[in-house]
Amino acid sequence: MVKVLVADDISSQGLEKLNVIPNVEIEVRTGLSEAELAEAVQDADALLVRSASKVTERVLAAARRLKVVGRAGVGVDNIDVNAATRRGVVVVNAPDGNTISAAEHTFAMMIAMARHIPQAHATVKSGKWDRKSFVGVELAGKTLAVVGMGRIGTEVAKRAKAFHMEVYGYDPFLTEERAKQLGIRRAELAEAVAVADFLTVHTPLTKETRHLIDARMFARMKDGVRVVNCARGGIIDEQALCEALASGKVAGAALDVYEEEPLPADHPLRQFPNVVFTPHLGASTEEAQLNVAIVVAEEVANVLLGRPFRNAVNLPSLDKDLKDYLEPFLTLGEKLGLLLGQLAPGALSDIEIAYGGELAQQEVSFLSRTVLKGLLGQRYGDEVNYVNAPALAEAAGITVREVKQPKSPVYTTLLSVSAATPQGRRRVAGTLYNGAGPRIVLIDDYRIDALPDGHMIYTEHLDRPGMIGRIGMILGQADINIGSMQVGRQGTGGDAVMLLSVDKPVPADVLSEIGRIDGIRTIRSIEL
Ligand code: NAD
Ligand code: MLT
Repeated sequence: MVKVLVADDISSQGLEKLNVIPNVEIEVRTGLSEAELAEAVQDADALLVRSASKVTERVLAAARRLKVVGRAGVGVDNIDVNAATRRGVVVVNAPDGNTISAAEHTFAMMIAMARHIPQAHATVKSGKWDRKSFVGVELAGKTLAVVGMGRIGTEVAKRAKAFHMEVYGYDPFLTEERAKQLGIRRAELAEAVAVADFLTVHTPLTKETRHLIDARMFARMKDGVRVVNCARGGIIDEQALCEALASGKVAGAALDVYEEEPLPADHPLRQFPNVVFTPHLGASTEEAQLNVAIVVAEEVANVLLGRPFRNAVNLPSLDKDLKDYLEPFLTLGEKLGLLLGQLAPGALSDIEIAYGGELAQQEVSFLSRTVLKGLLGQRYGDEVNYVNAPALAEAAGITVREVKQPKSPVYTTLLSVSAATPQGRRRVAGTLYNGAGPRIVLIDDYRIDALPDGHMIYTEHLDRPGMIGRIGMILGQADINIGSMQVGRQGTGGDAVMLLSVDKPVPADVLSEIGRIDGIRTIRSIEL
């Protein structure tokens, strides 16, 4: 049984996508406290949340079977991603599904604030007809500062252009070229806040962006500026905002998100008549909720079924082309790691992963994780996975280097892994043959050509006549069939290595018997 716990309201049409998981049990339990969530998640393989549930260290510690947390939306500030990474739990989100809804909500809020629509609506509802109190301002001709020019900020900027606003964008990753394309001006934060008639924030909430717009920033702004926050509570310092509203520096605010949600009933912001509020509705449209639920349910199913997935926030992102290119190498990488880990058991340090030929042109960090997963498997067993492998290596003081060697004289692509071990530096390398899958082509300085699969025996021995026959005889007597045999040697009569594939695991006494053959120096059972 595979259990998926759904802890927030998520579209049932989206959840249907989870039914591709065999024996899936979907349990929906919303509105849980931290303690209740920690209890409910104990036997869950996956946890699905929106922004209400807080996936804390305590919750993750209780979730012993958890493999994936799915966030039906963009922001992951309600999930302790570092704790999830340390525990090897993948965190996936649905980054694109609500972009348009959030951008449209931002615009609706900006216009509602500029024209006092909620306040005017309330007076008409209460039976009054007051046209004097609600004189607003136009957007056309005004300057809008957009802080955070990602997906939503960009859509807001496009809409602002259509409303004839002048747009200044601030984002460390905004290039001059992109700004030109969008018809906006790229600016530093200090400049953008100083020229703004309207200011809207669209960054994630991080250590760097918490209180990005604080009292110092308000002091730089024009008198009568209007501010919007439909991103995350805390990007604008609420106390500083209250002071700026009280002093008249800020003429209006439109807020969808708050430092504490739900916004406390006695919160000072509630006293200002020129603040427009919504209760975190940026993504609350039928379309967005369906989009994010489908995307996140598909991603969770992919993770649980061991299929490639795209939107992990604690793994390097793979676009489709790169994913398709790297996919066959992922098995090779993991097998090379497994092989080296078993050839050289014990303390490893200074791992070098070298990418030769065509592979050197690619973004390979995901592939390095598969190598590390294999390598560290000896030490950490099932505890290690693609998510936590780099963190486990770092915690163990193992340095990992990626090296790119565009020239690969023999193979079109060559993946080579070496590590400092108690027996000196050891190396294995492999490649992909068209149609024939992954092959091991090098063990230390010995060339071989072996399919890395199943039960294997590895020997280091002297290259003498009769050696192979004697090994074959001992295996035959133990009723162990040999599938293939690869020998690599430095020269006739010198040192050699052998990799034998066998149909079943080799018992320890059979291994010892082979190990006693004169001329065999090392023998190991290898599982790939
Ligand atoms: P995104 O990742 O596409 O964009 C975020 C942008 O912020 C990036 O371009 C990044 O470079 C920029 N950024 C990061 N730190 C910055 C800094 N210090 N200064 C300036 N820019 C910085 O994300 P998105 O899809 O545009 O969403 C943005 C945020 O909106 C989300 O993180 C989420 O918290 C929030 N959101 C809220 C709702 C809602 O219901 N109100 C809905 C969707 C998203
Ligand atoms: C998000 O980050 O996607 C939003 O906060 C949407 C939500 O979950 O309500």
